[in-house]
Formats: sequence, structure tokens, C-alpha cells
Amino acid sequence: MNPTVWHHLNLCPQGDPGESVADAALAVRDGTIVWLGERAALPAEYATWPREDLAGAWVTPGLVDCHTHLVYGGQRADEFAMRLAGASYEEIARKGGGIVSTVRATRAASEDALYAAAAARLEPLLAEGVTAIEIKSGYGLDLASERKTLRVARRLGERYPVSVYTTFLGAHALPPEFAGRADDYIDEVCERMLPALADEGLVDAVDVFCERIGFSLAQSERVFDAAARRNLPVKMHAEQLSLSGGAALAARYRALSADHLEFLDEAGVIAMKDAGTVAVLLPGAYYFIRETQLPPLDLLRRHDVPIAISTDCNPGTSPATSLLLMMNMAATLFRMTVPEALQGVTRHAAHALGRADVHGTLAVGRRADFAVWSVETLAELAYTMGRPLCARVVRGGTTVYERPAYGLCTHESPFGR
Ligand code: NIG
Ligand code: FE
Repeated sequence: MNPTVWHHLNLCPQGDPGESVADAALAVRDGTIVWLGERAALPAEYATWPREDLAGAWVTPGLVDCHTHLVYGGQRADEFAMRLAGASYEEIARKGGGIVSTVRATRAASEDALYAAAAARLEPLLAEGVTAIEIKSGYGLDLASERKTLRVARRLGERYPVSVYTTFLGAHALPPEFAGRADDYIDEVCERMLPALADEGLVDAVDVFCERIGFSLAQSERVFDAAARRNLPVKMHAEQLSLSGGAALAARYRALSADHLEFLDEAGVIAMKDAGTVAVLLPGAYYFIRETQLPPLDLLRRHDVPIAISTDCNPGTSPATSLLLMMNMAATLFRMTVPEALQGVTRHAAHALGRADVHGTLAVGRRADFAVWSVETLAELAYTMGRPLCARVVRGGTTVYERPAYGLCTHESPFGR
């Protein structure tokens, strides 16, 4: 691929605005970064390469959305309305709504219909600079439907300019046909579904919803053991609605991440720190179910646990397709700082995928996956609400997205002047 020097840009290679390089340049050959630094220091050997002028924009690593349930059928706006009328998320789940209602819609949908619905959610994420995304199953809950979901996830990764990492979340909820037989369902997950899907190459990691409306510690442990037999990394939806000790269990299995964590205690924080387990915070879900228990930011900071932020894109608790909005919520609701929020969607999110070697930072020898932002300062990424700030997305050195030009309000505009 043609070598290119990207210049006239401000570079934030680590996701930490404090380590930025003003008036920087980036030399890319064959999709890989071969040099980066101050433009004035660009070595003579790159001076004759073709150039791309980024007009003073900011460049960050491509964003990483490390926790999504992007592939599902239907939507749950009706339950949203029920909650507005006073019902709680848990009450709706216990009455056969919630996750199980999305399971019905997902099972009924064709693979093509699921693909189209998920693609419509993926595109706004990509237009906001996402170059790597995790996609969970967990709305199929039988072998064929989980397979269908994971195949759609893989297909998205083949057809869109994004690296997709799949997670098998068979233990997301109890499917109706196993009502009252949760342990039997866990047998099915461990002995039939996981081995089959792993053999088909559809599983990069394994997740469990450990919660009083999900699965117990003992059941979660069985799923983790099954993952370990396949050498698959694990992660957990933990301490979302109550403290169950899930995060500590996940840490015992060296989980990549424990996610949600509003009810996490200090013992869990310490266990995560010792295991290198990333804390994935999901401010969209916190906001959308109007949780009031804040995740323990101070404990996570004190024990130096890396914190990632993600959309949790799902129909029940976070119908969100903007990682920038999640940065804004992490800042406003959780009081995360701008550097924390930005690293939460870059390096630390890559770490949560177990792929910090490929994603989340820009350095010599790494693939040139970056987002170009039309902002004066990086704080705008967390500050702005709802305006498209991403001007361009580059993946492997190639521009894969460019924001359409503004200028609606000129004499050429259909809006007139
Ligand atoms: O991440 N906590 C469990 N799973 C999802 C919600 C799923 C749903 O309500 O459909 C979550 O919040
Ligand atoms: Fe989730």
C-alpha cells in the first residue's frame, strides 16, 4: 500500500491528552506506523512521501467498544414506557419481559434480518471512530440461535472496516424451556453449546451474567471451567444490581474484565487488581435504568485498576450507539476525568479485549488505526453531546470513513439561508 505522511495534526498516541504531541506527523507504510512524532523532527527519508494534510485536527487511536450486545432482534421501547409508568427493570424481567422478550424476537429473526438490524447500530459507532468492537451473543440461548448471532457478528467484521471480537454469553438468562432447571441449562451451555460454537471458530471469549436474576456464583464457575477447558478467556457481568462476589470469582479465573460493577466492594477491587482484570464501566446502563449506586471509582483509582468505558449497546438497559456520549456520561455521572474517559475507550478498552497489543494505542510497528477529530481540544470529546466530531476514520492506513461536509446553511443548502 502507498506510503503516506499524515501531517498538520495534533497527536494523542496513548489516549492520554497529557502525552500529546502538537504539530505532529505520522508516517504509514503498508498499513503500519513506521514513524510518529513532532513534524519538525520528521526524518528526511519520509520527506518525499505523499502527504495528507489533516488541517490541524486531533488524532487519537481508533476507539474500542469493548462490551456490546449489538446483535439482537426487535427492541424494547414498550418496556421503557412501562418503566416510565413505575415498573422496575427487575420486576419486568421477573414477569417474563426483559432479556427473555428479546430472546423471542432474536430466535424469530432470520440471520439476514439480524445482520441488517445490527449493521444499523454498528454504522453510527464506526462513524464515531470505533475500529474495534466486542459483540456478545446471549439473546439466542439455544445452540442454533446463539450460532446465528455469532455468525452475524463475524459477518459484520468481514464486511465492515472494524475488528470484531466475539463473546459467547449463553449464560445471560434462563430460556423459558429450562424454567426451574437452571443447572440443566448450565449443563447445556457447558457441554453442548460452548464446545460446538468454539469448534466452529465463533467464540473469542466467554461471559456470564452473575446476578440474582442471572446465574449464581457456582453456576458462573462452571461456565468459567468450561471456558478454561477450551483455553478461552472469560469476563463477567458482575455486581450490576447487587453485590454477589462475582468480580472476585472472575478475578480468580484471570478474567479479562468484570463489567458494570456498581455494587463492587473493596475485596473485589483488590482481587481484580491482583489478577489484571479491567473494570469496564457502563454509564449508559447506569443512566438508563436510573441506578443510584455509583461504581466505586475512588477504590478503583486507589488500587490502580484500569478502567474502560463501553456502550453496552443492548435493547434493555442501554440502547446506545455513541461511545462519545458514554464518555460524556462517564464524566458527568461518574466524575471520571477527561484522560480517564479517553483512555477508557482506547488503551484500557483494548486491554479489556485482551488485545492491547493491536488496538488502543498508536506506536511504531502498530497498525495505523486512528480517528481524526475536528476539535480544538480533546476535552471536547467528553464535553460535546450529540454533535458528530469525528471527521475521518483510518484503518490500516486507509481512510474508511469521512464525515460528509457541513454547510447546510448556505445559499446552496436545501434549508436556504
Ligand atoms: O448488560 N445485565 C445483563 N445484560 C444486559 C442487559 C440485557 C437486557 O436487558 O436485554 C446488560 O445490562
Ligand atoms: Fe452487558
